[in-house]
Amino acid sequence: MKAQKMNAIISTAYGSADVLKLQQVDRPVPEQDEVLIKVHATTVTNAHTAMRTGYPLFGRLFMGLMKPKMEISGTDFSGEIVAAGEKVKKYHIGDSVFGSTDLNGGSYAEYLTIKENEVFTLKPENYTHAQATAIIDGASTAYAFLKNAINLKAGQKILINGASGSIGTAAVQLAKYFGAEVTGVCSTANVSMVKSIGADYVIDYSKTDFTKGSKKYDVIFDTVGKSSFKACKPVLENDGIYLTPVLTLGSLKDMMISKLFSSKKAVFMATGLRDSKTKSKEFIAIKKLIENNKLTPVIDRYYQLPQIPEAHRYVEKGHKKGNVVISIVEGVES
Ligand SMILES: NC(=O)c1ccc[n+]([C@@H]2O[C@H](COP(=O)([O-])OP(=O)(O)OC[C@H]3O[C@@H](n4cnc5c(N)ncnc54)[C@H](OP(=O)(O)O)[C@@H]3O)[C@@H](O)[C@H]2O)c1
Repeated sequence: MKAQKMNAIISTAYGSADVLKLQQVDRPVPEQDEVLIKVHATTVTNAHTAMRTGYPLFGRLFMGLMKPKMEISGTDFSGEIVAAGEKVKKYHIGDSVFGSTDLNGGSYAEYLTIKENEVFTLKPENYTHAQATAIIDGASTAYAFLKNAINLKAGQKILINGASGSIGTAAVQLAKYFGAEVTGVCSTANVSMVKSIGADYVIDYSKTDFTKGSKKYDVIFDTVGKSSFKACKPVLENDGIYLTPVLTLGSLKDMMISKLFSSKKAVFMATGLRDSKTKSKEFIAIKKLIENNKLTPVIDRYYQLPQIPEAHRYVEKGHKKGNVVISIVEGVES
């Protein structure tokens, strides 16, 4: 039978956003334990821009040494199940679902397939497809750091650097939900937004260097890696923790040395590389928070599927507010 076609963004080499090309390709066909999802919305995140460039090089161990293993990139999605393999039990045709394909990619396309036990679930009814896809990157990463890695406690003082970004906006809301006292760090333009999502205090980094202040924190979550463990140490409590999702040789070195020789710890984690079971459990917890109106996604801009290269150029400037959503189906914005 002739394969059905779909539009997708393909990348066959590492490089600038110019490697991303719109093409017609065969629509994937679900295996027995997979569903076929018509993608309504996806996102462009910093993980994707890193996957596109192939840097840091360490990532190529998972993404492909010389060129991307997966020609269709993109991870987070929200959409509708339109076909299911015969062994699929949990889902039905017509279900609205959201989730992440992680290293398997595939969401920069009109359709994707995913195994039913991977990281996705029914979309919360109180979220649109755009909102559902927008929350995934930041909330999954922030939840893994704040709950799984350090189990942030009520009453602890946390400072979130980069509070206006994808991880930052989710981290502010999750830390408040866990009962912490939250200080967000952002630029002047984002102060009111960071306050509006729940930060108790906001420091404008263009006016004040938080590492020179007298206030100490139990946790500093440097979501954008613009500070460092060394710079933050003076404002960490004696048993304080510096968290960062940004992989550098320095963050790995800080983690190893502080583990052995310091009461203050530095922690890095590649959240996407953990097993599907752990990620799925966290994802269900995030869904419950959404249903209880504890998380609001911050959406900066929308682009269409053919504009994904443009979206990459915008994201890698490093100044997005929250998240960038790609509408694949018309009307996703409303
Ligand atoms: N380890 C993991 O598992 C994992 C998972 C996901 C992402 N990541 C990584 O985490 C990092 C953050 O990702 P993200 O998507 O949350 O970032 P993002 O959304 O791109 O962050 C952008 C925000 O950072 C703010 N910012 C820029 N310079 C700043 C500074 N000097 N101080 C404070 N804030 C500043 C910007 O505000 P202004 O415009 O006002 O400056 C902007 O709102 C990326 O490197 C990403 O690759 C790691």
